[in-house]
Amino acid sequence: MSKSLNEILSTFNGNKSELIPILQDIQSNIGYLPEDAIIKVSKFTRVPESEIYGVATFYTQFRFLPVGKKHIMVCKGTACHVKGAPQIIEGIERHLDIKEGDVTFDLEYSLESVGCLGCCALAPCAMINEEVESNLTLKDVKKIFSRMKK
Ligand code: FES
Repeated sequence: MSKSLNEILSTFNGNKSELIPILQDIQSNIGYLPEDAIIKVSKFTRVPESEIYGVATFYTQFRFLPVGKKHIMVCKGTACHVKGAPQIIEGIERHLDIKEGDVTFDLEYSLESVGCLGCCALAPCAMINEEVESNLTLKDVKKIFSRMKK
């Protein structure tokens, strides 16, 4: 069960040195770093919000938007890139009318690119939640979305 923001903060002392572990704990419990959490962390650690955003944007592990119910991660590793990952991402962006890194308004889908998923021989690959989609083509993208609608 995930912890509330107050429960998370209660396990820390409020030292500036705890900033990254606090942000990690929030993200692992809430799924992202909401604006109100940043404000609370700022008060708790006495680190200005701008500095917290500076730290959090430096590390790619932190997100500022929630992930959708179906989180799509398209591999942008070398093998997938060469075999058309950029076109797959563009196709998904067009289909969902969002950009990479965004989530749809209804929180149904989110899209991000990731490093190698470890199935390079089946490039280009993506993961939708826990499921791997391989040898992707733009036609497959349409099929996958109509399959997910059912
Ligand atoms: S480069 Fe895409 S799975 Fe390895």
